[in-house]
Formats: sequence, C-alpha cells, structure tokens
Amino acid sequence: MRLRAVVRGTGHYLPDRIVENSEFEKTLDTSDEWIRSRSGIERRHFAAPGENTSDLATAAARAALADAGMEADDIDAIVVATSTPDLTFPSAATMVQARLGMTRGFAYDIQAVCAGFVFALANANALILSGQARRVLVIGAETFSRILDMEDRATCVLFGDGAGALVLEAEDGTGDVADRGILSVDLQSDGRFRDILYVDGGPSVGRTGKLRMHGKEVFRHAVEKLADTAHRALAAIGMDGADVDWIVPHQANVRIIRGTAKRMDVPMERVILTVQDHGNTSAASIPLALSVGKADGRIKPGQIVVAEAIGGGLAWGSVVLRW
Ligand code: UT7
Repeated sequence: MRLRAVVRGTGHYLPDRIVENSEFEKTLDTSDEWIRSRSGIERRHFAAPGENTSDLATAAARAALADAGMEADDIDAIVVATSTPDLTFPSAATMVQARLGMTRGFAYDIQAVCAGFVFALANANALILSGQARRVLVIGAETFSRILDMEDRATCVLFGDGAGALVLEAEDGTGDVADRGILSVDLQSDGRFRDILYVDGGPSVGRTGKLRMHGKEVFRHAVEKLADTAHRALAAIGMDGADVDWIVPHQANVRIIRGTAKRMDVPMERVILTVQDHGNTSAASIPLALSVGKADGRIKPGQIVVAEAIGGGLAWGSVVLRW
C-alpha cells in the first residue's frame, strides 16, 4: 500500500476584459493573421486596474473547493505557482489563505515561471507522500500583462492573465499504475539558458522590469525538451504515448503543442487546447486547461493525463497522473 495524491476538484478564473488580436493592430505593426498563424492565439484576458494575482488565484481556488465539495478549513496547505505575485512579499499564497478565511495550515509560493504549475504539483505531491499534508490546494495564477512591454510586438501579443486551481487529496493506493492520482514526476532545469527568457528587473536589481524573450530559441528548446520530459516520466512507470488519454500541455504556442504531441506519437484529438482563448498565462495555463477539460466532460475519472511545461530558467518538467 502507498499514498497517492488524487485530484478532487478543479476551477479557474479569467478576468472580464477580453483583448482580441485586432486590438494590437491599432498600436503595433502586427496583425490578427500573424498572431493566429504563428501562435494559435486569438484573444487573451487582461486583469482590471487594481485586480491582482491573489484576486485571480482566490477566485480559482473558490471554484476548485466548490468542485471538490470542500471548505477552506478542510485544506492543510496552499501552494501558489506564480512569477507575478501582488507584492515581493508576503507570498500570494498567504493572501489567498487570508481571503479564503482559512485559519489553519500553511501557504507559500513557488516560482518556476511557465513550468511553475508542474513544479507546484510535484511539490504538493511530495507534501502528501511525506505525510505533511492530506489536502493541498495547488494554484497557478498570473498577471503577466503587468510585465509586458506593450511596444514589443514579439512578446506583448503572446501573454495573458488568468488562474487555475486543483484540490489534491491523499488516498491509499496499491502502488501500481492502476492507482488514481499522481503516478510519475520529472523535473529539469538548466540555468545556462537563463538569458533567452527573463524579466530585466526585480527587487534586488531595483526596478520591476519587463519580459524579454528570444522566441525562436525558446521554441527550439521547447519541442525537444517537452517531449523528452514527458517520455521520461512515462517510461519511469512503463508507459508511452499510446497509454496517454490526454496531454494537457502548457499553453504557449499551438505549434509547440503540435510538435510535442507528434514527437510523443499522440494525435491532436487527445490534446487539451485552450491557448486560443487566453494566450500564454504562464503558471496558470495547465490548471486552466485541466479545469476546462474536466468541466466539458473530456477528462474522465480513470484516464491517464500528462501535464508538461517549459519556461524561463530554463525550467521544464512533466507529471503523469490517473484522473
Ligand atoms: O511559455 C514559454 C515561453 N514562450 C514560448 O514558448 C514562446 C516560444 N516562441 C514562440 O512561440 C515563437 O517563436 C513566436 C510566436 C514568439 C514567434 O514565432 P516565429 O515563427 O519564431 O517568428 P520569428 O520570431 O522568427 O519572427 C518572424 C518575423 C520576424 O520578422 P523578420 O525578421 O522575418 O522580418 C519578426 O520581426 O515576424 C516578425 N514578428 C512579428 N510580425 C508581426 C515578430 N512579432 C510579430 C508580430 N506581428 N507580433
């Protein structure tokens, strides 16, 4: 017998303001056609002035708790993946804890940029397996609109704001791959590539800064490294692409998602795609896609789901779970 971290509920939140590709045509030398064909993105949501990451995270958390049929005080720990917290400190997670009215347990943030949710999921799994928590709220939440250079057409059209959340709960399993819950985790990073995707500011440097990216370089690494991490996580439990019911990838670019699925020998019919509706929401994109896929009935109990992501660092990884 061994413990497994099983998904009990999902939820997401997108800010009200929708920005269509055509809005950028007014201020930049770009077009709806370029953005769609190069990235698959059609629109994104931007948070309202005064609406911050912890607000988005709290809304997603409430939806996930309702879906799980749980109250805030049923939760032992909150882990928020974000690179755009409201303040340098305290963590967005403690803000969510207070807003949910949760007076027990513990909360903290994890920062692995677009791979943040995979790292947070791995971390929450470790909390459960080590017995430190039985129920963990794992959230990905971002307001990337606040760190975009709106004059840089190569980056500002690609990102958006949003949040997604999962409730994980400990359950006794048998220890084989028929168990529900997280079955395999693979995490990687390589700081030699830190300058192909970064923000040129921060608290220690002394200014907020804006996102900078060498898109072509990131693209090249993404397809190769995502397929590699997914293969590794699957192989560790004796599985391959043929065993996968759903790939739920980080939603950055439909061309990266197609390339990765192809390398994994998984047809696009078995990929949850939401990038068209919210662009790249960094750490929020995987829980958003999981929430959408569950709510519309595609992701069903017992199915094998692979979540994979890459982002600044570079940091990348994947989680295989039975829903
Ligand atoms: O979450 C992880 C982080 N990010 C990613 O995963 C993003 C990874 N990269 C990508 O998704 C793609 O590389 C992009 C979507 C960023 C760009 O696609 P690309 O096919 O690699 O285009 P490119 O950068 O090679 O640019 C092609 C052309 C360039 O013009 P020239 O040099 O060929 O004359 C760009 O200046 O497109 C130009 N361009 C644009 N044109 C219209 C760049 N941005 C725009 C734009 N509108 N918004």
